[in-house]
Amino acid sequence: MGDQEVTVRRARVEDIPGLVVSSSRLFAEDGGPRDPGVNVDWPREHGAAAFASALENPARLLLVAVHGGEVVGHLSGSLTEPSAMRPLRSATLMAMYVCPQHRGSGVGARLADAFFVWAREWGAEQAEVTAYSANSDAIRLYEREGFRPLSLTLRRAL
Ligand SMILES: CC(C)(COP(=O)(O)OP(=O)(O)OC[C@H]1O[C@@H](n2cnc3c(N)ncnc32)[C@H](O)[C@@H]1OP(=O)(O)O)[C@@H](O)C(=O)NCCC(=O)NCCS
Repeated sequence: MGDQEVTVRRARVEDIPGLVVSSSRLFAEDGGPRDPGVNVDWPREHGAAAFASALENPARLLLVAVHGGEVVGHLSGSLTEPSAMRPLRSATLMAMYVCPQHRGSGVGARLADAFFVWAREWGAEQAEVTAYSANSDAIRLYEREGFRPLSLTLRRAL
């Protein structure tokens, strides 16, 4: 499927149902199978309220990838203000998803690039993203987009 057919743009209130579906797919494919601590029902239970609130928050970015009027992917991002301990503004790519039938044609790269444009416009000096170490497709995309590994999360059951 050609990536020309997919539009990447800022999300609007009417995209919230599509964002909930896209987010549910992300949780089902990524967080759910890779992290037993994740509630895969979060998008269905809390997504609509969380996305509505994010749309009103200038420190949050919600992008949708749209094909034929359907949301086929999304990206959410946030800004973190400088603090005494970390004296620079940074942007976090919180989540990104592209439907399997639209993968491999640059939609993910376009979502990431739009996130960088937004982050720079707001004066962010660095961007970061967290990925499960088993998610090699996403890590490859992020590294192609200029991200480099920085830290490692270690976890044990109690
Ligand atoms: C990570 C993800 C957003 C990338 O989206 P995308 O639109 O495929 O991204 P791009 O087209 O810009 O680049 C994808 C890469 O996969 C390749 N590719 C080709 N066909 C593909 C296919 N059918 N499926 C996946 N990747 C494919 C692309 O050529 C490209 O190159 P690479 O293999 O060298 O990395 C998407 O795979 C996804 O939603 N994955 C599941 C959710 C996820 O892991 N999200 C990130 C959470 S941290």
